[in-house]
Amino acid sequence: MTRECSPIADTTSTFEEVCYLLWFGRLPKVDELKALKQRLADERKLDASIINLLQLAPKDALPMDVLRTLVSALSFYDPDFDRSNSDHDANVNKAIRLTSQIAMIVANYDRIRKGKPVVEPDRSLSHAANFLLMLNGTAPSKTAERALDIALILHADHELNASTFAARITAATLSDMHSAVTSAIGTLKGPLHGGANEAVFKILEDIDATGADPIEYVKAMLAQKKKIPGFGHRVYHAEDPRATHLRQMSRDLGQASGDPKWFEMSQEIEDFVKAEKKLNANVDFYSASTYHTLGIDVDLFTAIFAVSRVGGWTAHVIEQLDDNRLIRPRADYIGPVYPQKYVAAEKR
Ligand SMILES: CC(C)(COP(=O)(O)OP(=O)(O)OC[C@H]1O[C@@H](n2cnc3c(N)ncnc32)[C@H](O)[C@@H]1OP(=O)(O)O)[C@@H](O)C(=O)NCCC(=O)NCCS
Repeated sequence: MTRECSPIADTTSTFEEVCYLLWFGRLPKVDELKALKQRLADERKLDASIINLLQLAPKDALPMDVLRTLVSALSFYDPDFDRSNSDHDANVNKAIRLTSQIAMIVANYDRIRKGKPVVEPDRSLSHAANFLLMLNGTAPSKTAERALDIALILHADHELNASTFAARITAATLSDMHSAVTSAIGTLKGPLHGGANEAVFKILEDIDATGADPIEYVKAMLAQKKKIPGFGHRVYHAEDPRATHLRQMSRDLGQASGDPKWFEMSQEIEDFVKAEKKLNANVDFYSASTYHTLGIDVDLFTAIFAVSRVGGWTAHVIEQLDDNRLIRPRADYIGPVYPQKYVAAEKR
């Protein structure tokens, strides 16, 4: 069954415009957008020590682990690091800088681990096009640039999801932007959150490699009480609206590339899981086949989620630090038996 939606591809919005909306609270005028694009482009630079650290990372380290470690290290070289955490302008500067730097770290690490030279940024390109250039070494086609840009728009922010919550909690202790984004990256990594897109593609790859029937494969997972990555959502009970656009993008890219099998396999699984378990596809399900068709390695999928979501994380941190209050939820922690009297170790 093919589902239609009004294609986001027909809009003229860009990831940069969405970042403006998130950081400044409204859509930009033409000259404001131009100025933000310029600021993002100007921040396409990494301290030599960061490149050094990337080169020192084990070549088999997961991109998300490298990103988490390197974002933490970026704070050492941030010109606004010493300004107060509640300094709004400094936090906006950090948001812009981190957005440019995170994309560069992901692209640079992928090249370094493959023994390829890092690619210099091109400051005349959009955020999406520059990322693909730095990743692949060649300027992307207009179709690839637009597809990635749309994926970045769709992933940029999403209410109080787990990683954004982690970022806000960290910021709310009056810690700083880099610590908050580092917490968020560690949180995004898990397969119940951003890591689900990688898990989806590993299933598609396994089905393809073994020649298994997609429905039988998923049935077997359900029989073993395994969760199917890319389905279900804590908040949505109807379809995740982002999945609607990503499904269409996966289909269009599959057709355009002459390799529609990943989309077709995904759709077969989706129809079965929906009918059998009444579960809808979420943002991660079709982003897997979309990224693969764009030629991106599977272990970069979650890192690309971070390339986009940094826009939302930083917007939340700016808001939190503009008017801070400690976030301190209560929990039903079971913990050790209570009450317990303290007895010296030798008398226990
Ligand atoms: C997103 C997710 C963590 C939400 O979890 P949740 O709100 O806690 O929902 P629950 O885990 O309580 O699930 C409710 C029921 O639906 C089932 N379910 C939820 N997601 C499922 C999935 N992906 N595959 C199979 N069953 C699923 C659960 O097994 C549970 O069934 P039960 O009541 O018979 O035990 C969960 O749907 C999931 O693990 N999805 C897969 C990972 C994923 O795609 N994450 C990205 C989210 S954007």
